[in-house]
Amino acid sequence: MSKTYFIRTYGCQMNEHDSERIAGLLEMNGYVRAPDAESADLVLFNTCAIRENADNRLYGTLGHMKALKDERPELRIAVGGCQVQKDKALVLEKAPWVDVAFGTFSVGELPRLLAERETTGVPSFEFAEQTDTFPSALPARRADPFHAWVAVSVGCDNACTFCIVPYVRGPQVSRRLGDVLDEARRLVDDGVVEISLLGQNVNTYGRDLDGGPMFADLLRALDRIDGLRRVRFTSPHPHDFTPDVIDVMASSRVVCEHIHFPLQSGSDRVLKRMRRSYRSARYLETLSSIRAAIPDIAVSTDVIVGFPGETEEDFAETLRVVRAARFDSAYTFKYSIRPHTEAASMPDQVPQEAVADRYERLVELQERISLARNREMVGRRVEVLAEGPSKKDRSRSTTRTRTNKIVHVPGDLSAGTFVDVVIRDGHPHHLEGILA
Ligand code: 5AD
Ligand code: SF4
Repeated sequence: MSKTYFIRTYGCQMNEHDSERIAGLLEMNGYVRAPDAESADLVLFNTCAIRENADNRLYGTLGHMKALKDERPELRIAVGGCQVQKDKALVLEKAPWVDVAFGTFSVGELPRLLAERETTGVPSFEFAEQTDTFPSALPARRADPFHAWVAVSVGCDNACTFCIVPYVRGPQVSRRLGDVLDEARRLVDDGVVEISLLGQNVNTYGRDLDGGPMFADLLRALDRIDGLRRVRFTSPHPHDFTPDVIDVMASSRVVCEHIHFPLQSGSDRVLKRMRRSYRSARYLETLSSIRAAIPDIAVSTDVIVGFPGETEEDFAETLRVVRAARFDSAYTFKYSIRPHTEAASMPDQVPQEAVADRYERLVELQERISLARNREMVGRRVEVLAEGPSKKDRSRSTTRTRTNKIVHVPGDLSAGTFVDVVIRDGHPHHLEGILA
């Protein structure tokens, strides 16, 4: 009988992407997907290291897995991803019942590590510092038949002082343009209508390639693929957001009217200490150019509250920029100390109560803005892509606009189809609509 696997993914879309490759590799090696961790022969955790609570959660979960393994000694537990790359052998020290551990550059080694574990009877692990195989080149078992993640680069050449990504994912390595386009064409032949391009800093795509095709070239080339309907990308860095990308976005058939544009802070003093090389005025100017060129574009952002040394005045600047930018949505984070980053050793860490208080004020402001923005959509007719039944209410379907807004629509729309809906109501995090 085939062995079964279950994967739990933490963190960002790059991890979702890697998990689809992990699933693909396992299925190529005869595993079949299990409905839950309790019944699986192999449980795999693809971990994140971006904030501290992700760390704590993993060790808690692994503790729970130990109990399962005491009952079922043949259960295998594997851990991979960013936290494993950061902690390396420490994971096996803290959780010696783990069978296989692999870093971010060692995804392709998983089948070998699993086999080794069986022959040696002891945990096997690999934490390479770089890889030759781009993870996208590995087989994939995609979560949705109509959507695919396509990595265009891995790693990051920036050195934002709060961020652990350069430490765990290394310097930027771009994938060859021809390889990206071949994959996109193959996916479309396979029924994919929406592609999300991934890179830690997508808009510097190609900078490390000879005579480099640039991000704008990539978007332009994707526009010519018949059958492809939607292209998204994440995340661009505001500093590297160039006019040629705005031009392509404006003229492109497939590139969606949504941009994730991480602000991080509205205070120039804090931005400088974060080593984010734009200032609030530049940020807002770039945003205005984008909005002028692409009417109705939706904008989401990331904001960190409580970066070391952030004063009440700095935070007031963040609120000011958030008000001025009128984001459609924002991912808000409390600053979290990360080992191996410069900010971790900055002296004036902000007391937790102040961080919590600012965080609440920011969330409250953004919820109001998101609600107002979404209510502006009421009465409008928009094209949505159906994604499947709503998790909360199976009589409704979850769909998504080109602007990346979730619209709940009564009825059972088949996943992967496009329909037009009229928006009836707006909430901070979703819309409600009916078929047009
Ligand atoms: N603390 C809090 N938030 C962080 N992010 C990255 N590093 C940290 C940290 N140390 C946030 C940033 C980034 C998003 C992916 O996570 O806002 O854009
Ligand atoms: Fe993604 Fe960064 Fe978390 Fe790794 S550490 S999963 S790259 S968000």
